[in-house]
Amino acid sequence: MAPREHWATRIGLILAMAGNAVGLGNFLRFPTQAAENGGGVFMIPYMISLVLIAIPLMWVEWAIGRYGGVRGHGTTPAIFKLLWNHPLAKYIGVLGLFVPFVVSCYYVYIESWTLGYALLSLFGALPHPSTAELSSPEAYLAPFKEFLSQYTGMGEGPFYHPSYLAYFFFILTIVLNIYVLIKGISGGIERLAKIAMPLLFLFAIILLVRVLTLETPYGTAVAGLNFLWEPKWSELANPKIWLAAAGQVFFTLSLGFGAIITYASYLKRNDDITLSALTASSLNEAAEVILGASIAIPAAAAFFGVAAAQAIAASGAFNLAFVSLPAIFANIPFGDIFGFLWFILLFFAGLTSSVAITQPIIAFLQDEFRLERKHAVLATMGVLFSIAHVAIFLPGSLDEMDFWAGTFFVVVFALCEVLIFFWAFSPSKAWAEINRGGFIKLPRIFFYIMKYVTPVFLFLIIIWWVVTIL
Ligand code: PHE
Repeated sequence: MAPREHWATRIGLILAMAGNAVGLGNFLRFPTQAAENGGGVFMIPYMISLVLIAIPLMWVEWAIGRYGGVRGHGTTPAIFKLLWNHPLAKYIGVLGLFVPFVVSCYYVYIESWTLGYALLSLFGALPHPSTAELSSPEAYLAPFKEFLSQYTGMGEGPFYHPSYLAYFFFILTIVLNIYVLIKGISGGIERLAKIAMPLLFLFAIILLVRVLTLETPYGTAVAGLNFLWEPKWSELANPKIWLAAAGQVFFTLSLGFGAIITYASYLKRNDDITLSALTASSLNEAAEVILGASIAIPAAAAFFGVAAAQAIAASGAFNLAFVSLPAIFANIPFGDIFGFLWFILLFFAGLTSSVAITQPIIAFLQDEFRLERKHAVLATMGVLFSIAHVAIFLPGSLDEMDFWAGTFFVVVFALCEVLIFFWAFSPSKAWAEINRGGFIKLPRIFFYIMKYVTPVFLFLIIIWWVVTIL
């Protein structure tokens, strides 16, 4: 049995963790959630959830992962059992495999659209309507909507029929994921992150500059930013906004998925957690609230006006990313190149996240069943490929999976892990585990936040959800 793999460099680890977190959630889910949940007011519960739940949980997940990895386990069924000697522990831990697996089955599929669209854009194969039709956003967007629905096959009928092109790019995306995963932690995932993450930030900054200087007779990008950042205080009392903000913080930071835990299981015993986790989270937040917020919606506001931008965002993330942006790029100089940058940046964001969502299952097969990495990767991706067909062909399945696995169970799982670590294991040992080897010592206040505030907050969210949504 080969010894457990490790990250090769600190910068590589931080970029891989940032790659894990920075994903389609930052560029697609965040702007849509913000637009649908009151614009600027969304940012208040967002920031509160970030400080009181997400950052503490981030340290908890890193520490749980490192604790398990040092003892040869990278996934929660085994790690929870080590932390809490109770028959229930390993069954709760199974959630940490189930959740990422279900999410991976639709995530990789959507990721494959971004690769397909990147190449379509580069070769000028997306529609190029003339600005004459710009008087009405609906009419102008229509060919792009039509194109997306033909590409994905998402439309009427009992089953969807994706185009051959979409299917081809889906297979290609699976193959690329397999390629990275087979090369392993430092040779595959870390190397990918070292290349893809800097490029992602570079492309996003180029697009940001382009978008913020867009101006048409219909509006400016700044009007779009104002819409996003202007707090409407009256809406703060709406529980829906709080739930959406907490859900978004979890999704974007990959918390409650088991994915951070598995990545952290490749740390060494005394590797820093406190500062590294904070750095990776900060990179994600920069990619979310600066870059994610400043591209899709401001571009739509500049091109179609704020009201139309809001309507597009409210009609869903796919319309924002695959309909509105390409439509805008169709009418600016070098638009095909900007379109390529946009979609390839999404693809990098997606790929560095999909290798993280699939890693828990792979690690499970390796650690608990002693499979070789290659076999573990092929088995996992083979099953993923088959099950993804539910998302590909069955209308509505994607939303269901996103809600149950991607939102509800994530929060339940997060509550379990913080309770197991900070209550069942031992508060003082948990605190020492987090701080061991740390470049910064965490202020003591976080001890109380992790022990009391985070679990209570999570519990309230679950109750709220059960009462209002189910
Ligand atoms: N954080 C990723 C995103 O924002 C999604 C993700 C969730 C990735 C869980 C890995 C694990 O798109």
